[in-house]
Amino acid sequence: MDHKAHWENIYQTKSPLEVSWYQREPAVSLGLIDRASVDRDAPIIDVGGGASVLVDRLLSRGYLHVSVLDVSARALACARARLGDLARSVEWIEADITSFQPPHHFRVWHDRAVFHFLTDPPDRRAYVKAVNEGLEPGGHLIIATFAIGGPTKCSGLDICQYDAARMSAELGAGFELMEEVGETHATPAGKEQRFIFLRYRRRERDTD
Ligand SMILES: C[S@@+](CC[C@H](N)C(=O)[O-])C[C@H]1O[C@@H](n2cnc3c(N)ncnc32)[C@H](O)[C@@H]1O
Repeated sequence: MDHKAHWENIYQTKSPLEVSWYQREPAVSLGLIDRASVDRDAPIIDVGGGASVLVDRLLSRGYLHVSVLDVSARALACARARLGDLARSVEWIEADITSFQPPHHFRVWHDRAVFHFLTDPPDRRAYVKAVNEGLEPGGHLIIATFAIGGPTKCSGLDICQYDAARMSAELGAGFELMEEVGETHATPAGKEQRFIFLRYRRRERDTD
């Protein structure tokens, strides 16, 4: 499947305010990032950030090295336009996460509602490989997906649902689960969707 064509079409035909995943405030994500307790100069990446305002909120909290990756150039353009001059302080990366080669290390890797679209095991393995290459040892992986019992599709695509055990099995022994938060997201159309947010710490060594 051509991920890029699908997502470019979504962002061409819908306003970022009407997509089902739209959030006015990414409160759960910000709480998890706060509790990761990283310095303001820690490199943070929002993977599949789309047009989310998480980047705006991170900049206003004083984080200095924020990166946003998305397969859709339109989504990134939308976030850049919203930020105006502030956009220049952000690293924008147009890439498919399944073939992403991190240009440097990150201390926090955040993903809300991207991993669950990877229904093919080789794509999930490629994602985990990118995390292992891009997230520094001791760094935090914050990953949010539809929960067990949540939606079975999003944006016309099949998804996989997760709980902590399923996600931990995907990630392997190199990640220690630190925190788990459930959220019921209300879509702009008024539907409820169950999400699970998981915060992992990458072990300093595989044997830690
Ligand atoms: C459901 S949206 C979530 C957007 C954002 N994280 C949020 O919470 O508002 C999924 C996002 O992931 C992007 N995406 C989907 N598949 C991707 C892939 N394989 N690589 C990179 N980005 C991808 C889409 O373009 C879209 O912006």
